[in-house]
Amino acid sequence: MQLHAVETTAIAWSGTGLAIGLWQGQIDLPGDLAKLDERLGGTLSEIIEEASFTGKAKSVLAARVGSGDVRKVIVVGLGDPDKASLETLRQAAGAVAKRARSEKCHSLGLSLPVIGDDPAASVQAISEGIQLALYKDSRFKSGDDDKDKKNNPETIELLLPDVDGAIAKDALSQANSVVAGTLLARELVAAPANVVTPVSMAQMAKDMAQEHGLEVKVLGQEECEALGMGSFLGVAMASDLPPQFIHLIYRPKGTPRKKVGIVGKGLTFDSGGLNIKAGAGSGIAMMKTDMGGAGATFGAAKAIALLQPDVEVHFISAATENMISGRAMRPGDILTASNGKTIEVNNTDAEGRLTLADALVFADKLGLDAMVDLATLTGACVVALGNSIAGIWSPDEELAQSLVSAGKQAGEQLWAMPMEPSYFDGLKSVVADMKNTGPRPGGAITASLFLEQFVETTPWAHIDVAGPVWTDGGSGINPAGATGFGVRTLVNWVLS
Ligand code: BES
Ligand code: MN
Ligand code: ZN
Repeated sequence: MQLHAVETTAIAWSGTGLAIGLWQGQIDLPGDLAKLDERLGGTLSEIIEEASFTGKAKSVLAARVGSGDVRKVIVVGLGDPDKASLETLRQAAGAVAKRARSEKCHSLGLSLPVIGDDPAASVQAISEGIQLALYKDSRFKSGDDDKDKKNNPETIELLLPDVDGAIAKDALSQANSVVAGTLLARELVAAPANVVTPVSMAQMAKDMAQEHGLEVKVLGQEECEALGMGSFLGVAMASDLPPQFIHLIYRPKGTPRKKVGIVGKGLTFDSGGLNIKAGAGSGIAMMKTDMGGAGATFGAAKAIALLQPDVEVHFISAATENMISGRAMRPGDILTASNGKTIEVNNTDAEGRLTLADALVFADKLGLDAMVDLATLTGACVVALGNSIAGIWSPDEELAQSLVSAGKQAGEQLWAMPMEPSYFDGLKSVVADMKNTGPRPGGAITASLFLEQFVETTPWAHIDVAGPVWTDGGSGINPAGATGFGVRTLVNWVLS
């Protein structure tokens, strides 16, 4: 698929499918489209009328209009103009792209308005929407009967008569970087645990470093022992696969404007350990996605490596599996983390926070201006916020706000949750400094309070992405499967 911008109007374009966006309540076709309607003998306004098309956001209408310059017209609703955002464009472009595919439009011309005062942001959002919506993961399917891919439009032209060509070109290249990062995250998360292992993830990071000139250091079992990472290594004990502590660094050419860290939970599989996830409702079969935080982290690394901002970024994941065997950590075991704090493991299934503890201690020592961790940490967060919203916790309100607004710009929803200090009582242990789990109520909050114990100096935020890393049915620009959630937010945050 080729995607580019042209300074052509809808009326001047010719090809298989022409797509236009209409606002809700927009009764009369705007100037250029009125001319097109005239040329089509009124067909355009007729089909809009006949289908009772109202311009509701994401609603799509397609009709054959002839066999001349334009065969098919696709109309997409943009919703209420007062509520328009970049996400409106992303979703509308995604909806058009999918319809163009099912309508077998080999070439597509897409005319959408520019929203806000930064045309580049609009162009970027449109391109992201198209590419993310059309993506299909067929790595694990045999044969090549992939109809969807075959029917993808070969060329897509964004019709942008009012946007400077150079600006549009630049915005499309930004979009390509962000999309490449998001698709990497999707592929890491969707791949099963017999494909994405701690070692293969570390190898991927090394390959990325090689390709993009990043620095990378991978610590094995012994190096982690030497650093006293007893919490991380406690989780890794039962796995036959060696744990890998991955540290990837992007350094800009000149003096960095700021230095930030991104830490991702990297459980390539979470069986629950001896507190095993048992039964159909336990969700054990989805636990290949328990490296969704790491997926977003390395997806962001890919995007940042391509975008080359003037910011130093550290990408970290303590990667392992949570398994069972005669060597498994037992409920009741006491672990010592690399900051010297002791943890009574009253539930082996709360393993993510144990791996993050040592990762946060490590990151905290790098002298960063800020750091954020992303983790598929708790089912409690999914209960609280559902499948499409991530929870964010931070003692630093400004940092939390900057991430929330980076998410907003990206079309990824983050909701600020409370770091209620009194809830730490639930983690009190008779024998150690703390337990790793508290009572069921407020489980995502106690998880955050646990993590806070391993951060001393760096402004830090925690994002629980257990809900949004995966979508069963698919929606909008996310086809069914891994969403790549977090990458676009992280990129916007780093660039901000
Ligand atoms: N990886 C899970 C959290 C999770 C749940 C992710 C559902 C995605 C979907 C995590 O390691 C876990 O098992 N958390 C436990 C914590 C509990 C034992 C306090 C949970 O949420 O049940
Ligand atoms: Mn678990
Ligand atoms: Zn887990």
